[in-house]
Amino acid sequence: MNVLILHGPNLNLLGERDPSIYGALTLAELDALIAARAAELGMTVRAFQSNHEGALIDRLHAERRWMHGLVINAGALTHYSYALRDAVEAVRTRAIEVHLSNIHAREPFRAVSVLADVCEAQIVGKGADGYREALERLLRPLGVQPA
Ligand code: DQA
Repeated sequence: MNVLILHGPNLNLLGERDPSIYGALTLAELDALIAARAAELGMTVRAFQSNHEGALIDRLHAERRWMHGLVINAGALTHYSYALRDAVEAVRTRAIEVHLSNIHAREPFRAVSVLADVCEAQIVGKGADGYREALERLLRPLGVQPA
């Protein structure tokens, strides 16, 4: 199974950006953990980070025939980007939304996700483990609830 990992704005600063909220891992370290879990699960991943909405959308379009699943942490775009939301819907892939922090326990604007209705699940507040859980979820057939 081919999985695209999309990281949105400011996630390139992981490691130095408020580690009490986002953890101490750098993006490269996070991507290495994701790749290691993917390899164990027999999945192939491609990871991409951008601070630009259009670049994320372009990458989604470009990978649409390659990917079987998507793991997306769109950063703050989560809360207002209908363009990115429409792109996720348009590429018709199974998608899991991940946030390092618990967006439901922070400022009210973070609790809103315009991506949620085009994603199969939302995993929050689990740091790097959330991405590993997202990969595992993609291996489960659609509609099967976690044990
Ligand atoms: C985030 C939460 C967002 O509200 C924030 O804008 C981010 C990161 C998270 O992973 O917890 O950039 O998506």
